[in-house]
Amino acid sequence: KLYKTLIYKDRYKYILDGFGVTLQVTFFAVLIGILIGFLVAAIRSTHDKTGKMKIANVICNLYLTVVRGTPVVVQLMIIYYVVFASAPVGKVFVAVMAFGLNSGAYVAEIFRSGIMSISQGQFEAGRSLGFTYAQTMRYIIIPQAFKNVLPALGNEFIVLLKETSVAGYIALQDLTKSGDIIRSQTYDAFTSLITVAIIYLILILIFTKLVSILERRLRSSDH
Ligand code: ARG
Repeated sequence: KLYKTLIYKDRYKYILDGFGVTLQVTFFAVLIGILIGFLVAAIRSTHDKTGKMKIANVICNLYLTVVRGTPVVVQLMIIYYVVFASAPVGKVFVAVMAFGLNSGAYVAEIFRSGIMSISQGQFEAGRSLGFTYAQTMRYIIIPQAFKNVLPALGNEFIVLLKETSVAGYIALQDLTKSGDIIRSQTYDAFTSLITVAIIYLILILIFTKLVSILERRLRSSDH
């Protein structure tokens, strides 16, 4: 009788809804992560190279230390239960904020390492051609750096997508939570959890393929 509590139609609906939530959270968190990561990397690199932006640099370092020094699931719960404790915001919004803010720190370091991977001579060449600091960055450094960080950036996306599976801690029904609900109601752990795992795997396989195509395209301009 218990096996019948969750009829098939409802199982698909749980999975489909959860899948939608996972995609939504990942998509917007990636956008926020890239935005924050870019800003933080720009500030830190500018400070490195010119000695300017002292205060902003201190704030960025503080952000990096806190975000990377605490688990994302704790950050998620703090944002949900403390920061937005009495604010009427949706759980998806909270999750997007938490994962976006978290990812930003990692993306910042990825971008910064990309900028550092371009030799100092490239800066000097740009500056001696009369480019300003910003123009040198925009036209010479960043296009080359982007190519170098693509694999790491792809990796960050994969980590982020999988990391959203802890969203169940604030009772957000993402893909993982949906699978777990089905497991708890049908007692069929195998089917429910393997289904969830396969969906993540397929998503990541598709994404990995897309990144490698993009990588090949960008490399073709090297020859
Ligand atoms: N799971 C670890 C944590 O809780 C690592 C998170 C890494 N996140 C990332 N977007 N790279 O902090």
